[in-house]
Amino acid sequence: MSIIRVHDKQFEPYLTASEINARIQALAKQLDTDYAGKKPLFIAILNGSFIFAADLFKEVSIDAEICFIKLASYKGTKSSGQVITAIGLDTDLYDRHVVILEDIVDTGKTLSEFLPQLHHQQPASLKIVALLHKPSATVFPIPIDYLGFAIPNKFVVGYGLDYDGLGRNIREIYKLVE
Ligand code: IMP
Repeated sequence: MSIIRVHDKQFEPYLTASEINARIQALAKQLDTDYAGKKPLFIAILNGSFIFAADLFKEVSIDAEICFIKLASYKGTKSSGQVITAIGLDTDLYDRHVVILEDIVDTGKTLSEFLPQLHHQQPASLKIVALLHKPSATVFPIPIDYLGFAIPNKFVVGYGLDYDGLGRNIREIYKLVE
């Protein structure tokens, strides 16, 4: 692994494919234990989580469902600010054990605005799995129940994460050279 270029920026190796894979296996094992007999519904948030969600889901061996949603934000009224809606969420969450799959939690804004909408549907439980978290970037604290890696407040690409549309198909995770 060496320095790569995505658009106009340089990125250096940060997490190898085998480090990512090892964490995913550990997370799946934990989920197998915690959700045995509960038939959880995994909700993967597109676009960034598609590779992580697929790899994690393959390692989960209990009965489980998965669906994929996209979050769209639009400007609401002045008092409500940004409003986030979920596209593709057509499963009833009532009394389900829901597990959100997110690629990265940065400021926490996206999830902090979206989670109340899910709670509204009264799931039996609602937990969050995030591959990456930047603790020092937190503005809206989010309880991350299952975490892959805590990372510094640096921009990263690869393994589903993009820089302006590119970089999602890189097998490892790279961080911006500053
Ligand atoms: P938050 O609402 O600030 O937590 O941001 C979450 C979203 O911002 C993620 O789902 C990503 O799409 C994007 N994001 C945040 N940090 C990065 C990064 O380092 N690389 C690529 N995308 C990022």
